[in-house]
Amino acid sequence: MELVLATRNPDKIREIKKVLGDLGIEILTFEDFPQFPKIKEDGSTLRENALLKAKEATKFTGKLSLADDSGLEVEWLGGAPGIYSSRFAGENASYEDNNRKLLSLLKNVPEPKRKATFRCVIAICRPVGSRIKDKLVEGVCQGKSTTHPRGKGGFGYDPVFQPEGLDKTFAEIPLEEKNKISHRARALNKAREILQQIIKKKNKILIGLTGNICTGKSTVADYYEKWGVKVIKADEIGHKVLEREDVKAALSQAFGKEILNFQDRILRERIRKVAFSDHDKLKKLNALLHPLIKEEIWRILTGGNYKIVVIEAALIFEAGWDFFMDKIIVVYCSREKQLERIKKKTNLSFEEIPGILRAPLSQEEKIK
Ligand code: IMP
Repeated sequence: MELVLATRNPDKIREIKKVLGDLGIEILTFEDFPQFPKIKEDGSTLRENALLKAKEATKFTGKLSLADDSGLEVEWLGGAPGIYSSRFAGENASYEDNNRKLLSLLKNVPEPKRKATFRCVIAICRPVGSRIKDKLVEGVCQGKSTTHPRGKGGFGYDPVFQPEGLDKTFAEIPLEEKNKISHRARALNKAREILQQIIKKKNKILIGLTGNICTGKSTVADYYEKWGVKVIKADEIGHKVLEREDVKAALSQAFGKEILNFQDRILRERIRKVAFSDHDKLKKLNALLHPLIKEEIWRILTGGNYKIVVIEAALIFEAGWDFFMDKIIVVYCSREKQLERIKKKTNLSFEEIPGILRAPLSQEEKIK
């Protein structure tokens, strides 16, 4: 597998290769595509710029691409230089010019007010047919600006940035040390997980089968199963996950002992009630269960020699899994039909039903 790094900055390439080097993917750069046009970074946020770069790279090369946009945000300067970090002292400013300007703006500013944050946003784009799918991750490193440059390593603002908990600047520590705590390393570690999943997916075609509760997803899933396609049902995996001792302990700690019955089994009906009655609780429940369910889905997915796999899950978009899918099917039905099915299936009272219908993404949004 190949990954194109959408950057011309050799310092960044060095740092990125160091963190992703052992993934076993071939890392290409613009050097490998001499015809690649210069990208105008005219977004108004780091996110927009990162996405712009990765999208252009995928469009041009037809390959999986990764781009970062990063910058230093100084509290005293209202978040500047931020997206203007590389051209803070002018269009062709050198690293030294930028550092000089920063330090002069912070002249006489006392230490507690010199708080600064390095932020890095990474965009990953993958080509899916004629479309491009994207995913964004972010990493930050808190610290402060020094009063004068220190150290010879690193690049950019490294000599004037001292991360929290260290008495040295980024330019005074070896790259290995910087890569343990830097904004880019933190974002790259998140990107790494995404790349690992793409590597594991290999050439399999993943079909996401989704739709809100009781709209008929499982009926469609059953057809695929009948046709001999491997189907993974997130609900079934979720039920299995609920039987794990560590999960039971975590859930009863988060939602109270009443979610367990006398045999210490999780009462799914109670969990459902707790979760759908309160948005924060639902969020907490999802944060706890989703990573485990996802892990198990990927384990099954990669375990067999399947060419096509259908993944039936209500929250494909909400959990950000759509990025990995090659096709998504949204199943929907009329609100009346949905209500009728919910009542039949769940024993919920009329008062409880609106909560269950309040999905993070409505049916219409999913269809769109
Ligand atoms: P970008 O190339 O548009 O992402 O601009 C980032 C600019 O922010 C760089 O040119 C550097 O000046 C600064 N910058 C980003 N990351 C770092 C870092 O890790 N150390 C020092 N400066 C950085």
